[in-house]
Amino acid sequence: MNFLHYPVMNKEVLEIFQATGEKTFVDCTVGGGGHSHHILSVFPEASVIAIDQDSESLALARKNLQSFGKRVSFHLGTFISLFEDFDCRRLAVSGILVDPGISTVQLKNDQRGFSHTLDGPLDMRKDLNSSLTAAEILNSFSEDKLADIFSSYGEVSNAKRLSKAIIEKRLFTPWRSTVQLRRLVEDLNHWRPRPGLGHPAAKVFQALRIFVNNELDGIDSWLAKIPLHLRSGSRVVFITYHSLEDRLVKRAFQQLQRLQKVELLRPFPAFPSRAEVAENLASRSAKLRALEVA
Ligand SMILES: C[S@@+](CC[C@H](N)C(=O)[O-])C[C@H]1O[C@@H](n2cnc3c(N)ncnc32)[C@H](O)[C@@H]1O
Repeated sequence: MNFLHYPVMNKEVLEIFQATGEKTFVDCTVGGGGHSHHILSVFPEASVIAIDQDSESLALARKNLQSFGKRVSFHLGTFISLFEDFDCRRLAVSGILVDPGISTVQLKNDQRGFSHTLDGPLDMRKDLNSSLTAAEILNSFSEDKLADIFSSYGEVSNAKRLSKAIIEKRLFTPWRSTVQLRRLVEDLNHWRPRPGLGHPAAKVFQALRIFVNNELDGIDSWLAKIPLHLRSGSRVVFITYHSLEDRLVKRAFQQLQRLQKVELLRPFPAFPSRAEVAENLASRSAKLRALEVA
């Protein structure tokens, strides 16, 4: 088993699902299967519908969850089409987990291009069947469009200067590798590593990744459909890793509560404990929100 990715706020997820009656759970972003492994182990009567848009992650989950046999089924695709692909009421779905972003396995694979610390192609696609890569964006988008991506999805302070420099460079050499981009960002920011200071390329890479994968598209309308497709008492857990995504989830949850369609299980998001962050630094930006269908 390869559980390189540590399931974030796993204890909290299990506690929330404990009260739902151990029926069918949907793991919308199964990754390597960390959360699903715990769900299937702790709830012996439960089954899991495991979804991921990345075929490599899904293959890993298949391997890691093999011992649970038919209690788990695997589906390639985005969770945004969950309610069109599955009749969640008929399947008695009692809990849905969404833990998007990227896994440690994806991040540490230099061929996927997600990490500015590894040398590899500027790819960044989670869905390997989609055609738009980060390199293609840098090689073909206009200066204004690039600046918009960097400021909207990465809150990059010198987005305009960076976009201009990207266009200038591509006149001579096409954008291909993560290292090319990291070096440009380091030069523009006169980067010198200092303790406690984040690398400026992290936000640039985040912005490109969000855009390449349409990460924010459809989340609010998907959340709005929950009461229509889940039975009363079902629970939804959403873990976010950046403020743009969290804002969308927070607003959609509050709107459902105002309409009295759901009950928020906690008025504020939960954060990983200090002990969890010490064990898994990647969890430090996580926020967990949860609701129950009225
Ligand atoms: C943080 S990892 C999930 C880790 C998993 N919970 C575990 O414990 O192993 C995020 C996963 O979600 C997948 N993903 C992100 N957005 C998705 C979407 N819209 N639909 C389906 N999968 C998605 C990614 O490909 C990645 O494998």
